[in-house]
Amino acid sequence: MKTQIMSMFALLIFIISQIINIHGSHFQGGMITWKYKDNQVYITYKVSFNNHECDNIYILNRSLVNGEGSLMCYSGCHNTLVTPLSYYCTQFSDVDNWKYGQRTLNVTFPSTSDNIYIFGYRGGSWVSLAEGGGSWSLIATANLTIRQDNGRINSSPIAAMQPFVTVNKNCAMPYALIIPVQDEDGDVVRCRWAVNSITDECGSVCYILRNSVLDPSNCILYINAIPTTGLYAVALQLEDFGKQQDTIALSSVPLQFIVNVVDSTNPCENKPRIEIPVIVIPSYSMYHQTITARSTGSQIAEVNIVSPVGFIKSELLRYGSSNDRWYVNVTWTPTNEDIGIHIFCYTAIDVDRQASDQECKTLKIIDADGCVSNPCSNGASCTQLINGYTCKCAVGFTGIFCETDQIKMNRMNRIHKDELNSC
Ligand SMILES: *[C@@H]1O[C@H](CO)[C@@H](O)[C@H](O)[C@H]1NC(C)=O
Ligand SMILES: *[C@@H]1O[C@H](CO)[C@@H](O)[C@H](O)[C@H]1NC(C)=O
Ligand SMILES: *[C@@H]1O[C@H](CO)[C@@H](O)[C@H](O)[C@H]1NC(C)=O
Repeated sequence: MKTQIMSMFALLIFIISQIINIHGSHFQGGMITWKYKDNQVYITYKVSFNNHECDNIYILNRSLVNGEGSLMCYSGCHNTLVTPLSYYCTQFSDVDNWKYGQRTLNVTFPSTSDNIYIFGYRGGSWVSLAEGGGSWSLIATANLTIRQDNGRINSSPIAAMQPFVTVNKNCAMPYALIIPVQDEDGDVVRCRWAVNSITDECGSVCYILRNSVLDPSNCILYINAIPTTGLYAVALQLEDFGKQQDTIALSSVPLQFIVNVVDSTNPCENKPRIEIPVIVIPSYSMYHQTITARSTGSQIAEVNIVSPVGFIKSELLRYGSSNDRWYVNVTWTPTNEDIGIHIFCYTAIDVDRQASDQECKTLKIIDADGCVSNPCSNGASCTQLINGYTCKCAVGFTGIFCETDQIKMNRMNRIHKDELNSC
């Protein structure tokens, strides 16, 4: 009898610990988008957790990470779309303790009178936050009625947003957090705060960074001074509109992520910078790029390029049926005379002569003949690869072709600094 009670007790402890485990604080945000194709809706969910298993082996093996909870349909259909919410891990950080992954499902919704479908992901608890926290809710809305403007069924906008953004509270505020958004139909995309009025779009994290300012038409969150360090949740909805002046969204999808406020003594100007990306092109093969520019409230007048000889730029064209985006195509076929590195930059200018920031790329032209052509300088060794080659530099030299003498460079930098100091 006594042992029976003891084992009952042990079982109870086990059940309680399982409940605590399931409801422990671990959710760190996510996103749900959808796309209509061939009579089916492809729903992509992205989720971030701190307690799931994910490492490089998971990423390389494309192993499904055991997820939790369910993607549910709340309106237009009433069933579970997937359970558990497993996913393919795509990124993780041991330092900041998050894992991030995604999965795409294809679903066929039953037909209804209005073709409106609301689906989402709700569950237990957010990671411990400096403000708010508890239940999570991510809600997406789809209208599968054929659009009058383009005769097609809509797809939702998408965003490429990192799940975890670290901000140093001692640096100049506001911190402009740009949320890169796109829409396959060329619709106007706007962002707004998630709310819990008609539908609960945000659980316990509605409108947390209250003193931040959201620029809805450019999807930029200006984060103002935050006195207390810790993790903050941001819950937004991305919406697409057929025309700039439209006020009723075609669809609404959730984007929720973490802003990690730290108290760092690192000088703010020492923040890391992304180096200009390097694109490798073998000689005599064509490089092609489409440069798209967007202007709300004005029109793009031109896209200026700064390029090596031989670049061909198309005329400026309107992007799809959009009113605010234009593009040019550039192509370049380098020859053996172009072997080396080149920087290619571009700027968009609107009719009011306002210029965008300049974007650049480094183009590394390599000899199509590979190591046979002796491309590496200053005693470097050359290794042939399937698609090009790499130079392994001798000590004291750097650069793609080992063309830079570090000692000489350092001396020149010093001279330059001395010149500046003597001014
Ligand atoms: C990854 O794949 C390798 C090779 O198939 C296998 O040996 C290994 O067990 C896998 N690892 C995981 C974590 O699934
Ligand atoms: C969509 O789902 C059905 C079953 O649910 C499956 O048979 C089919 O292969 C899927 N199609 C695609 C393109 O994934
Ligand atoms: C759904 O889309 C159709 C076609 O664009 C539109 O007429 C209708 O008003 C939309 N419904 C809602 C609730 O937005």
